[in-house]
Amino acid sequence: QARTKKPNPSDSILNIAHRGASGYAPEHTIPAYALGQKMKGDYIEIDLQMTKDGHLIAMHDETVDRTTNGTGWVKDMTLAEIKKLDAGSWFNEKYPALANPAYVGLKVPTLEEVIHRFGRNARYYIETKAPEVYPGMEEELLRVLKQTGLINGRGRTNKVIIQSFSQESLLKVHQLNPRIPLVQLLWYETAGTAQITDEEIKNIKRYAVGVGPNYDKIDQAYVSKGRQAGLEIHPYTVNEPSEMKKLIRWGVTGMFTNYPDRLHRVLCEV
Ligand code: G3P
Ligand code: CA
Repeated sequence: QARTKKPNPSDSILNIAHRGASGYAPEHTIPAYALGQKMKGDYIEIDLQMTKDGHLIAMHDETVDRTTNGTGWVKDMTLAEIKKLDAGSWFNEKYPALANPAYVGLKVPTLEEVIHRFGRNARYYIETKAPEVYPGMEEELLRVLKQTGLINGRGRTNKVIIQSFSQESLLKVHQLNPRIPLVQLLWYETAGTAQITDEEIKNIKRYAVGVGPNYDKIDQAYVSKGRQAGLEIHPYTVNEPSEMKKLIRWGVTGMFTNYPDRLHRVLCEV
């Protein structure tokens, strides 16, 4: 009798490598993304900022101060200026136990460079950061996705999810291309009070396939309600296996983690 193949658990619960495997390597660098893949992350998570001359780069903050050896606002710098910066040494200084000489001198990658490096078979979970600061960011994002072949001629993709805290930005993407799956990021301030109303669900479902709430303020009822309404639930940023297990029990459909290896182990157990 033929044995049935055990389904890969990450087919059903997405393992999203947050800023790459950023628990181990400098966030938003090629080594961090490569490690995320090696550790079985399903998606490479990329935060976007836009340079003065209109290039989309992978960076979490609006300034280069925290994650490079430079200072200043991304919006005021050209790509050539950004490319002079070292995006790895800060990590070695901050985390000596994880330091690696290979991180010294790493460059800030552009979105196009990331896609060229990891290709059309990788999956990308891309966030428009501070879109109000960067007019044209959404158009440029869609241009890059199309040009790199991640969006096909019919406007479809099964390799990209676009996320944002900005509803306006997501609505803009949706208007430009209604076929790209979108996730509305949400931030809840106070423990135990995270609620999602019927009205909010109805509104979000007009343009998005799911929500990404901060994991520490939601509860089982929140997850159940979202799931029953047909929303994907992708909490961020979940680093402890005990929290991962609890969220899986509650029924989330993916999560962002700095430690995709830990999530992979948890998913293999369930
Ligand atoms: O995109 C999900 C999560 O990354 C949102 O928070 O600040 O890490 O981008 P942040
Ligand atoms: Ca993010």
